[in-house]
Amino acid sequence: MNCNEIINKLRTTRNAEKDELVYLLDNITDDGREVLRRNAQEVAQEHFGNKIFIRGLIEISSFCKNDCLYCGIRRSNKNAVRYRLSREDILACCDKGYALGFCTFVLQGGEDSRFTDEMLCELIGEIKRRCPGCAITLSLGERSFDSLQKLYDAGADRYLLRHETAGKTHYEKLHPSEMSFDNRIGTLYKLKEIGYQTGAGFMVGSPYQTTENLADDLLFIKKLQPQMCGIGPFVPHKDTDFRDLEHGGLNLTLTLLSIIRLMNPDILLPATTALGTIDFRGRELGILHGANVVMPNLSPSDHRKDYALYDNKICTGEEAAECLNCLKGRMRSIGYEIVNSRGDYRQLNNKEK
Ligand code: 5AD
Ligand code: FES
Repeated sequence: MNCNEIINKLRTTRNAEKDELVYLLDNITDDGREVLRRNAQEVAQEHFGNKIFIRGLIEISSFCKNDCLYCGIRRSNKNAVRYRLSREDILACCDKGYALGFCTFVLQGGEDSRFTDEMLCELIGEIKRRCPGCAITLSLGERSFDSLQKLYDAGADRYLLRHETAGKTHYEKLHPSEMSFDNRIGTLYKLKEIGYQTGAGFMVGSPYQTTENLADDLLFIKKLQPQMCGIGPFVPHKDTDFRDLEHGGLNLTLTLLSIIRLMNPDILLPATTALGTIDFRGRELGILHGANVVMPNLSPSDHRKDYALYDNKICTGEEAAECLNCLKGRMRSIGYEIVNSRGDYRQLNNKEK
């Protein structure tokens, strides 16, 4: 099959064989990419119209007990500035976001054991009380199954945990030996079983990544069927051993967004900050290639620059309202509109299937 035939197959069957995905990723031309893009945009519009969901991102801690080789807040980075938001800081971010129209708050942080189940459960309850109707998304890394259940019972709705790569050998090249690929994948299945709207995802162009790895990532998403999928280019961080590597490619990231959209028509797919970092119009291009979510930053401005997973991250000098207005303008410029709804996952009904 040639590229156009594979794209057709993706559009009509929402699936492809691994060798077809590898072939497409390795051989797609600019013309092919435009065909793929148009198909992905059409599928996104069939499902979401020109509406873009927003999630208010609150970066609650830059402490992390893990040591992922690519990440700027890995524990062995002695240059990283560490901070932890207080309960009051976090609530103030939510209040501000709620007043701006946000109905989803994403609490994201390194794996920081100071955020105990007890305090997170109380915090989740308090956010829900102060911001009626909002959804709470957690992105706090791997926690015990017991902890994840408690947080869900306390009212957390969604959980983001990128699988990072679906290749075990590749995973082991990017993470220290004490981190387990099997536990990460197992945690993702557990999150779904508990009842979370679950987000997986991976970096594009990460060190040692092969096209086969990317095909495995696509097939893993198809198999896990997460409600969300976060992908963005790998971007080197100056305090890691990967400092001199190139960032993941713009076109490759956009191609993958489009393929994910065709394989998973109803998935919630963000145009990520990392994509906006490698290209001035990255997030707009992400939307035009099938994404339907953006995640403006609601973190307090004085800590923004310290949550540095990678270099040159955008929006580190902006206020919450500025980020929102900036994104509203950017979306409008390409014919899309940011909406304030919770933006829950909505599965295709049988007719649409
Ligand atoms: N470049 C791009 N993305 C990164 N992440 C961590 N470090 C980097 C980097 N150097 C991503 C990981 C993680 C998410 C929170 O940020 O995929 O899951
Ligand atoms: Fe933050 Fe544009 S989204 S400044």
